Amino acid sequence: MPTRSVAVKTTGSPAVRVPADGLALFVTEQDVEGEWTTALAAVDAALHGHLRAAARAERFLGKPEQELSLATLGRLPARRVYLLGLGSAGRVAEQSRQHGHEPVRAAVGRACRAAVRAGARSLAIAVPELVPDDIPGAARAAVEGALLGAYTFERYRKPDHTRPPGLGSILLAVPERAERSAELSRAVALARQVASAVVWARDLVNLGPADCTPTRLAEAAAELGRASRLQVRIRGPRQIAALRMGLFLGVARGSAEPPRLVQVSYRPRGAAARRRPVVLVGKAITFDAGGLSLKQTESMVTMHTDMAGSAAVLGAMRVVALLSPPFPVHAVLGACENMPGGRAYKPSDVLRAVDGQTVEVTNTDAEGRLVLGDLLAWAGKTLRPMAMVDVATLTGACMVALGMTTAGLFGPDGKVVDAVLSASHAAGEDVWRMPLTEALEEQLKSERADLKNTGERWGSAITAAHFLHRFARDVPWAHLDIAGPAHAPKDHGYLASGGTGFGVRTLVELVRRWPRRQP
Ligand code: BES
Ligand code: MN
Ligand code: ZN
Repeated sequence: MPTRSVAVKTTGSPAVRVPADGLALFVTEQDVEGEWTTALAAVDAALHGHLRAAARAERFLGKPEQELSLATLGRLPARRVYLLGLGSAGRVAEQSRQHGHEPVRAAVGRACRAAVRAGARSLAIAVPELVPDDIPGAARAAVEGALLGAYTFERYRKPDHTRPPGLGSILLAVPERAERSAELSRAVALARQVASAVVWARDLVNLGPADCTPTRLAEAAAELGRASRLQVRIRGPRQIAALRMGLFLGVARGSAEPPRLVQVSYRPRGAAARRRPVVLVGKAITFDAGGLSLKQTESMVTMHTDMAGSAAVLGAMRVVALLSPPFPVHAVLGACENMPGGRAYKPSDVLRAVDGQTVEVTNTDAEGRLVLGDLLAWAGKTLRPMAMVDVATLTGACMVALGMTTAGLFGPDGKVVDAVLSASHAAGEDVWRMPLTEALEEQLKSERADLKNTGERWGSAITAAHFLHRFARDVPWAHLDIAGPAHAPKDHGYLASGGTGFGVRTLVELVRRWPRRQP
């Protein structure tokens, strides 16, 4: 897969003197009402007051999502300026502090998409000082927003030379005192690594199911291993059978594509390699037709994205290899299709999991929890994790509960759930904690087996989480249901329609923030 490379530079010169095709400037409601910030005032002066005049004429009030762009006609080294509304200064500062400068990420993403569409090759960004003394944090968000906002998926289109060339470089204008700080360059480097991992994950998610089969997904992991400090082990159907993963094999049976069990491992050097690992488990259904409990066509057309959890986990591993934490980190994926072939598993089948528990299949479309059940039980036992997190496009019910942009976080009270939640806040990804309502666990009782794979309709995101809990047992564990945010129906902020790469940023922050020393 081609990775686009965008140059990122920082400068301490004032934004008004920075040459670029586009210059992005942030504006709060207070800026519009009162004094303009230095950068805005300087640009307005260079434009002989036309910026303020245009803002007034077009009723640009600095509201969130408001945008105003103006050609500079040679009066500025930047050819066009983009004013990006942020809303009220107090609110946006608070949001920035608590959500990893997410307003900056979103506004830059929007401006970047507009600039790229207008043919810009270079974008300068005046990094705002919303949170005093956190220039590096704002710079990180700006770089992520620009690189993610510049993303487009062109693989299936015919080459078209009239299409805009895409972003080649970003120039960050920061206050002079911040320009040479080591903290700033570290933040920018991290932002580039994270954004390129998110872009890589988006590409995987956007591939059609014929181009992202279980075999090809495993190959993508293998490539990742060759390009970085990661070890990759891939197992086929026989080895999966030898491990006795009856749930995983049951789901895979209806497809002509053989399943793949993929383990990607980061191991630190020295004694740290013997510490307990963090384990990331990703749902990797490369196409979910529903199996014999066949889906309707309308709900099937996005089911090539049912491997988004595994794309997030693999994307995060790319960055983990560069972060070199002092403990091992493993990713575990069970890649297969859920198809209604002649050998498909059936409603009423009873499958035996790797840990010996038997599951009565009441709906073959609840396949994700089956595969994950085997993986969680197996990883919990063989890897002895200090923390285990699964990421999965698990239930439509989670989208009903939280909408298209928020992921549901489940798990017993404890360090892992708390850590995932605060990591998501720091990363600017929207995650909401959900309960493991005890009364719903009952619904998994089966007359014929240890449990069944579906309960009633109401609260079925919670029932699904209970199912997983039965296999994670007492391993410190959290479950992230990304059915909503894994896929964007249309362009918004730094998201392009299609796969979003949701989860990469949270998982990277989780590993980055995980205590370096522990008992
Ligand atoms: N992959 C789907 C969940 C999903 C739905 C993800 C829509 C993204 C968008 C999952 O395998 C599924 O089919 N879940 C069923 C479970 C039900 C049969 C208990 C669902 O949510 O309807
Ligand atoms: Mn399904
Ligand atoms: Zn599914």
